[in-house]
Amino acid sequence: MLLFWKKPEVSLLSGNNVLSPPRARASSSLTVTMSSDGDEQTPAAPSPETELTVTIGATVPTGFEHTAAEEVKEKIGADARVSRDRGRIYFPVSTEKLFQVHRLRSVDNLFVVVKEYDQYHFKESKEETLTELQELASKLPWTNALEVWKLNRTLKKKKGHRKGGNATKAKPDSEVSDATEQEESAQERPAAEDAPDPEDTPDPEPAAADKLLKFRVTCNRAGDKHSFSSNEAARDFGGAVQEFFQWKADMTKFDIEVLLNIHGEEMVVGIALTEESLHRRNISHFGPTTLRSTLCYGMLRLCKLQASDVILDPMCGTGAIPLEGAIEFNSSFYIAGDNNDMAVNRTFNNICHIQKRRAEKGSSPGLPVDTVRWDLCRLPVRTGSVDVIVTDMPFGKRMGSRKKNWDLYPSCLREMARVCRPGSGKAVLLTQDKKCFSKAISRMGGLWKKLHTVWVNVGGLHAGVYLLKRTAGVFGQTPEDVHESPGRVYKQTDEKEDD
Ligand SMILES: C[S@@+](CC[C@H](N)C(=O)[O-])C[C@H]1O[C@@H](n2cnc3c(N)ncnc32)[C@H](O)[C@@H]1O
Repeated sequence: MLLFWKKPEVSLLSGNNVLSPPRARASSSLTVTMSSDGDEQTPAAPSPETELTVTIGATVPTGFEHTAAEEVKEKIGADARVSRDRGRIYFPVSTEKLFQVHRLRSVDNLFVVVKEYDQYHFKESKEETLTELQELASKLPWTNALEVWKLNRTLKKKKGHRKGGNATKAKPDSEVSDATEQEESAQERPAAEDAPDPEDTPDPEPAAADKLLKFRVTCNRAGDKHSFSSNEAARDFGGAVQEFFQWKADMTKFDIEVLLNIHGEEMVVGIALTEESLHRRNISHFGPTTLRSTLCYGMLRLCKLQASDVILDPMCGTGAIPLEGAIEFNSSFYIAGDNNDMAVNRTFNNICHIQKRRAEKGSSPGLPVDTVRWDLCRLPVRTGSVDVIVTDMPFGKRMGSRKKNWDLYPSCLREMARVCRPGSGKAVLLTQDKKCFSKAISRMGGLWKKLHTVWVNVGGLHAGVYLLKRTAGVFGQTPEDVHESPGRVYKQTDEKEDD
């Protein structure tokens, strides 16, 4: 919930120290540094040249927290802690590795932690709690988090303010939304390029020091035992932050977004380091059900891809899965197919967009991915020639129907089993139509073995990511192969392409 309060505007702080609150108050609260675990310590705050270690918080696709923690360990060497609050992880990072944090593929939004409370004892009465939140603003160890925020700005390319606000869209009283971009139409929009490229020369950032900072507070609250709403918390805490720092509140064109994440008794105050979710990074041509790149990454990681694997996304939509694979796991080759012309065109455009972007940066534009129009139930692919299938199946909600899935799912599981390499082939399939999927897979025991299921949240829907292994059974010699009549294949004929 966004901060929304009205206060008279305050006078500007002159000089180049607008990140610091007025001196009188600074003595009591800002002569501290923060250790990696967030404890307050003396002595004085470090200069920007000093290397800091801070705690970074990241929102990740729910269900893939441990995958994200693995990636952090692998790429940054830090041990991440999975929050009780699903969809978040925390890890320590020194400022010299800050740019690497933006290059993680499994994280949606990043923030630097100002202070964490494992068990914050919220008062019973609303008034008391809100007063306490107001008082808290001046007591928090802001210094290091603000230094990191400042450094983060210099790392990023200057992008100016985004239309309609800078940051995470939060739902009232909810976690940061884990939704796909279902609400986005097929309109073209620029892909996010938030992740700073270490090869880029950082822009100098003279403005940050000299201008009046604008800010907003966003409160994400979960739990039913609070006497206050997220709106009220954001409003009162935000008012106190404004008074303390003498910043100017601006709900849309803000420089700093202060986060107040409350989950039951856990409370984390942070400062956002991303202006928009990193999951938008690859896609410029969105479709009705474009999957978050972060979720695609999690699905691809589940497959433990090997060099020179041939990977198929037979229902690729806008190509989010194969595109993420071709960028991040680029020693495999990806084939992206769909039976809908619009989907194939979008995938093609998304591939071209990334290639163009790469060429402009002077890096090799080539991507190991191709796109084709096909019907999944009759793939023009040789039997046993594919190593891994990764796909996001129609849920039967936004287009098509659950009824059609009863035909589609068995047909596509059979055809996938045909093209997949017996004994070693794998499939990672996402669907929300769990009942239909479970029924279909239960009849395919000779061809597929279900290894693992990750439960995820896709646009507010509870869905399963199923990891299947292709049995050694030879296609054409198991009862399942002849179970379904090929004539009962679901074919899409209208304009609606996804669900
Ligand atoms: C849930 S969407 C995939 C969305 C995609 N992951 C993305 O990020 O855009 C399912 C896709 O399956 C495609 N589809 C449905 N039936 C199909 C079939 N028989 N053969 C090929 N594609 C099919 C639809 O056109 C749709 O694009």
